[in-house]
Amino acid sequence: MKVYLDNAATTKIDSRVLAKMKSIYATHYGNASSIHYLGQENYLLIKACKEKIAQVFKGQADNIVFTSSATEANNFIIKGVMRANKDRGNHLIVSAIEHPCVMNSARELAAEGFKVDYAPVDSDGRVKLAELEKMILPETVLVSIMAVNNEIGVVQDLAKISEIVHRNGAWFHTDAVQAVPYLNLDIKKLGIDFMSLSAHKFYGPLGSGLAFINPAIKINPLIVGGGQENGLRAGTYNVPGIVGLTEALVLSYKERGTYIKKVKVLRDYLWQKIKRSIPEVYLNGSLKDRTPNNLNVRFRRIEGEAILMDLSLKGICVSTGSACSAQNLKVSGTLTAIGLDPSDMNSNIRFSLGKYNNKKEIDYTVKVLAGAVKRLRQFSPIV
Ligand SMILES: Cc1ncc(COP(=O)(O)O)c(C=O)c1O
Repeated sequence: MKVYLDNAATTKIDSRVLAKMKSIYATHYGNASSIHYLGQENYLLIKACKEKIAQVFKGQADNIVFTSSATEANNFIIKGVMRANKDRGNHLIVSAIEHPCVMNSARELAAEGFKVDYAPVDSDGRVKLAELEKMILPETVLVSIMAVNNEIGVVQDLAKISEIVHRNGAWFHTDAVQAVPYLNLDIKKLGIDFMSLSAHKFYGPLGSGLAFINPAIKINPLIVGGGQENGLRAGTYNVPGIVGLTEALVLSYKERGTYIKKVKVLRDYLWQKIKRSIPEVYLNGSLKDRTPNNLNVRFRRIEGEAILMDLSLKGICVSTGSACSAQNLKVSGTLTAIGLDPSDMNSNIRFSLGKYNNKKEIDYTVKVLAGAVKRLRQFSPIV
């Protein structure tokens, strides 16, 4: 049996999205910046996509900038806003559990002379709001806090955070990559100035992301060239990718009612079954304030990698602690920030469910998992 439980790393493209993209590849091959009819058709198609996306988030179509990924969107927003607003200040705050593309953008800015601070989180991964408020200085320009963490699925209180950030005179960016469609991202209500998304996390294509920007705030482009996206992101438009992102996003929010419920039932069933079948297992983070697709479990006295390999040999795909960079075996920043004991740092498996999973797959996974854990613990040098 093949079981895919690594949906937080990437998702299988929805066949309806793929069909739409195929037809765009076949017929809509004009460069959207060309002024002939094939180009103009695509230009209008992109405009229509922005309108549809804006409706989902109750935002303005003109405030959308298409990118190649959320990595690019996060780099663009964080570096672009900090570098363009030096007259306001030089202070950036990011949370302690951000994705490496945010962390490394912040590090690059620190090397340029910007002051960067890291907002701490509690043992479940929630940003400590009182501490965040104390960290905001008159020279703070931007606060970047992810909506949902990629490792433990913790959901932040975006409305409260943006209220604190704005009350103290700064701007708010959220990396919402793991939030679609689990959160209702009404950007106006939530007070979001900047937001990043990636299509391949919600059954859309790889290589297609977006940045929501606030046009009242100065931002420098990251990629310069032919002036596309009002000079904010150069490069020939990826029309099939943009159409695929839009279709996937609209479908995700249209169908979220049924699929969130289904995923939650399966995730809770998985956790109950793991607890019943395997001793010495612990949940990283809490089930509260967590997206319904995520389960991050600590298996004492075994390496997560060893479990992952055993599962993979039996057709099951999961991930160890870190999200989309499993080859990079650095200690997880998120698990460190929530205070996990260093001896437990390498014993974690992230199960991330999706809309295509079913109960049979979960039963099979736990059966294989229980066997693997029993086998591996026999060899464990740790008691
Ligand atoms: C929270 C978060 N931010 C950003 C990214 C990067 O997204 P992309 O793959 O589009 O570069 C990921 C990917 O795993 C993520 O989980």
